[in-house]
This record gives sequence, C-alpha cells and structure tokens, in this order.
Amino acid sequence: MERSEQQVDAAAPAPGTATALGTSEATGTGAAAGTMAGAVPAVAGATGDDAASERTVTMRVWRGDDEGGGLVDYTLPALEGEVVLDVIHRIQAETAPDLAVRWNCKAGKCGSCSAEINGRPRLLCMTRMSALPQDEPITVSPMRGFPVMRDLVTDVSYNFAVARTVPAFTPGPREADGTRRMFQKDVERSQEFRKCIECFLCQNVCHVIRDHEENKTRFAGPRFFARLAELEMHPLDVLDRRRYISEQMGIGMCNITKCCTEVCPEGIHITDNAIIPLKERVVDVRYDPVLWLGRKLFGRREPLASSAVASKVRSESGAVVPDSVSPAEPLSGGTFVPQNRSGEPAGRED
Ligand code: SF4
Ligand code: SF4
Ligand code: FES
Repeated sequence: MERSEQQVDAAAPAPGTATALGTSEATGTGAAAGTMAGAVPAVAGATGDDAASERTVTMRVWRGDDEGGGLVDYTLPALEGEVVLDVIHRIQAETAPDLAVRWNCKAGKCGSCSAEINGRPRLLCMTRMSALPQDEPITVSPMRGFPVMRDLVTDVSYNFAVARTVPAFTPGPREADGTRRMFQKDVERSQEFRKCIECFLCQNVCHVIRDHEENKTRFAGPRFFARLAELEMHPLDVLDRRRYISEQMGIGMCNITKCCTEVCPEGIHITDNAIIPLKERVVDVRYDPVLWLGRKLFGRREPLASSAVASKVRSESGAVVPDSVSPAEPLSGGTFVPQNRSGEPAGRED
C-alpha cells in the first residue's frame, strides 16, 4: 500500500479519518516534551477489575523527527484488553495530540502500524499489553531501518521503489480452448507468500540494510524475495527472473540468518521457503558450467539483468538513498527485456 494512502494520525484517533502528516506543529522532540514522566507503581494486593482500574502503565515513546529526538514517558491508567496501539491512541487523545503514528485497520492486515516495541519489530495493533512486562516502562520507537519522518512514522518509500522494479506476473499463452489451467498442488506452493501485508518488519530487521544504507542500492530485502518467490513458483508464470534476482536484487548478500522470518506477523517462512529456493535457482544461471558454455557457444540471451533496474531503484528511492552513496556497478545486459524460460522475449497476454 502506498504511504500516501495510509492513515497517519497526528491528532485525535478517530477511526476512518485521515490527518496529513505535518499539519500539526512538531513539539514533541526531546525530553522536554515529556509531560508525565515517572510511572506510578502498581497497587500491591489489588485484584481483578479493581487492579485493572488502579494500575498504571508507562509508555516510553520516541518523539522527534529527522533532525533528532528522544524517548518521552507517558503514564496513564492501565485498561483491560488493550493492545499497544490503543494506549498510543489514548496518549494522543489525552496528552499529546501531535503524536504521529501510522495506522489503518487495527486488525493486523494493512501493515501500517509497524514499529519497535521494547526493541522488537512488531505491529502496534497486534501486540497485547498483557503480553509485555507489566512492571517496567514499555518502549515504543519507530522502525530503525527506515528514515524517521516524525515520532513513530518512518519513510518506507524505498520499498515501493524496489517494488516497482519487480517484473510483473507474466502468464504464457492460453490453451487451445482459451483457458489457462493449473493444479491446486502447484498453486499451494506460492500461496504462502500472498499472505504478506507489506508491513516491512522483515525489511526493518534485516541486517544487510538495517545498518548499511549503502546496500539499499543492491539488495532488495526479504519482502521482495518473498514476492519474487511467489512469481517464480507461480505455475502459469513464464518469465525467467533468475539473473535479475541474483544481480539486481542481490540475493547472494543474504546469509540466511532467519531474522526476517522470526518477525513476520503473517508467519511466512521467508528464509526457508522463499530465499533458499531462490538461491538454489540462481546458482544454475550463474555457476552451471554447461549453461555457461551454452551461452558462450550459442550466444543465448541472459535472463533478466539490467543496469536500468538499479538506476530506477536509486532514482525512485530519492531521500532514502543519499547522493553520497556510490551507485551499484552497471551490469551487463543493458536493456530490460523480459524473457521466458527458453530465453526468448516474453509477451504478455491478458
Ligand atoms: S535471512 Fe537474509 S533476508 Fe532474512 S534477515 Fe537474514 S540476511 Fe536478511
Ligand atoms: S513478508 Fe512478513 S514481515 Fe515481510 S512485509 Fe510481508 S508480512 Fe511483513
Ligand atoms: S493498523 Fe493495520 S496492521 Fe496495524
């Protein structure tokens, strides 16, 4: 989902209303913005509803923008059955109406409310307060892997720039009766990847790009390996993206640590079911000596490879990739010509 379509709250959290980021003055930077620092301890001996009504919770929320900021404590009554996003909304409503947080569905399906809770990448709307330590402040900070826009809102446009370079689903010709057929067992393999909600928590946690901005020009990240696996494993798709995956998407830089898999709220086995099978596929095109000889002897076209793809990522990611970052080396191939698995230009049928 494009960021501009998502709901960005910087005012009272009325569901269904969208407030443009930046319309409120950012006053929450630094510790000075903390209006209620210091948690009131839980009431010893209280039980049930009484305990819930008398307990308090301290949320340690990062406030600031791209020029800097810090953690600010907000202490408020603990209520039963809340998720972290509920408490953030109460802070907005009662104490800090300019606190910016992106959300939309509050049901774990839009992927908007990604943040870090006590240092772990999570969805704010799917993290129960009762699942967090009750006797210490709960830290809520923006995803560290992306530039901060304000408070809990980050600029994830890098992901959309990469997404636009992914060669689209390309089915082969229809059968004689005008239909396309596929078997359920073939469909099931790629079905898992379609559960992705584009929360980008996997992108946020991947160490290849989390601490290395310069790698964003040559490494797509786990969300896009899941997308590419979905396309490559689709029974009707005929495009060969192996060279693109290897050289433009940089799958070789992944060292299968599985951090992305651990944080995926949809439980997608990104490493085992997407990345490792893709790595096995690209080995054929890069290192198979028979294929290499065939290409040399018969001049067969390489699968997708294009410096144009890298250029597009760089130019469209704009603010995400600083000018000082060296662009990836131009790759051989030159033109972005989709090919089928026989090495011929692939046409698309609707
Ligand atoms: S398994 Fe690969 S893509 Fe996933 S977090 Fe580790 S390095 Fe990144
Ligand atoms: S693969 Fe999982 S963690 Fe990554 S963007 Fe999709 S849903 Fe989020
Ligand atoms: S608000 Fe949609 S996933 Fe959290």
